[in-house]
Amino acid sequence: MSDKTGILLLSHGSRLDDGEEVIKAYKEMYAEEFPDMPVEYGFMEIRKPGIPETIKKLTSENDLDKIIVVPVFVAHGLHTKRDIPGLLGIESDFDPESISGGHHHHHHDHDDHDHDHHHGHGHGHHHHHHHDHDDEPVEFDGEIVLTDPLGIDKRMYEIIKDRVSEHL
Ligand code: NI
Repeated sequence: MSDKTGILLLSHGSRLDDGEEVIKAYKEMYAEEFPDMPVEYGFMEIRKPGIPETIKKLTSENDLDKIIVVPVFVAHGLHTKRDIPGLLGIESDFDPESISGGHHHHHHDHDDHDHDHHHGHGHGHHHHHHHDHDDEPVEFDGEIVLTDPLGIDKRMYEIIKDRVSEHL
């Protein structure tokens, strides 16, 4: 008798704590509004808990047949189109030819972002697959749905305007 759905709010992951404070706050808001819905947060890379261990936590505490993964990212990028589906072990319609400027595949096709983790892995140069997490596979027999990121939304635009007005 399993007909429950679990939610995984997924953040990029950083060595600083700010990102965890944010994703944890959203997780707590969600849990408060939907107390019957199992929800956890996790990180794609750099920081624990990672994807496999978050899914393990959700499924060990709940009898789930479906997990909805929300990448709390502003836009699609290589992480949401390629890396996260890979980590979740789900199909992706990612087309390597869609990488702008890239018919030549070298180290720099991860340049849709340039945050700190690309310098912290002990590699001499950037690598495509810079996951800190163990390559432990996701263990889940049910359905995993990866949603779109936050995207273009008037509610986000309102926040942008707020940030500007705070300094006018
Ligand atoms: Ni990254």
